[in-house]
Amino acid sequence: MAVMLLFLAACTTNNSQNNQNVNENMEKEETPQAVEGRMNFGSRHALVTTPQPCVMIATWDKHHYPDVMMAAWAGQLDYTKIVISLSKHKTTDNLAETGAFTVSFADEHTVAESDYFGLVSGNDVPNKVAKVGFTITPSPNVDAPIINEYPLTLECRVVSFEDGMLIGEVVNQSADESILTDGKVDLTKLKPIVFDAAAVCYRALGNNVGQAWGEGKKFQ
Ligand SMILES: Cc1cc2nc3c(=O)[nH]c(=O)nc-3n(C[C@H](O)[C@H](O)[C@H](O)COP(=O)(O)O)c2cc1C
Repeated sequence: MAVMLLFLAACTTNNSQNNQNVNENMEKEETPQAVEGRMNFGSRHALVTTPQPCVMIATWDKHHYPDVMMAAWAGQLDYTKIVISLSKHKTTDNLAETGAFTVSFADEHTVAESDYFGLVSGNDVPNKVAKVGFTITPSPNVDAPIINEYPLTLECRVVSFEDGMLIGEVVNQSADESILTDGKVDLTKLKPIVFDAAAVCYRALGNNVGQAWGEGKKFQ
């Protein structure tokens, strides 16, 4: 959550009221005590809470063109909700119009396309989805496009968008057969990438190194 708040502060600097708040907070900030024996970065250094997911948010614009953007400041809020920290983009204008979006996951096969969607705004390149050769299917559940080349997609309704925090309710999750094993999503097939804020790069996921709610039992 700390990363989200820092990102929020960094990306709302167009707004003069927010600018003032950020400046006031920076003035109030105390110099932190150094933790002995470690490198101490304070709080103004780019925070490293990696890995962060690389989610791809797809929306319709007012002319019904599909738009998609990359977001790394994202997470799951509860069993059916997700949260994403967003500054102002064409995507946020679209969200205000439609109240809906889809979320897919950048993977090893789509690194360049996904990075492009984070580099370029739909305001400047209205057909950026088609520009990389991607195709779309309208979601049957929400007013948003599904990008066919991303094999795992959440269809979401906007619950709220306040102070740069988008909360969405997932109404359906769909997956291409190619990423399933025994009917379950298989991350070794999906091959999602994560954002490394320290090296400012994308990384592949590694091996399964232990059972969740399992490996720790030896200390019980
Ligand atoms: C690695 C990476 C991560 C990003 N994460 C976020 C994010 O979490 N929130 C955000 O508002 N923008 C984020 N962006 C920036 C948007 O993806 C970018 O501004 C995009 O062009 C917006 O597209 P749009 O104007 O068509 O909506 C990220 C970009 C990259 C490359």
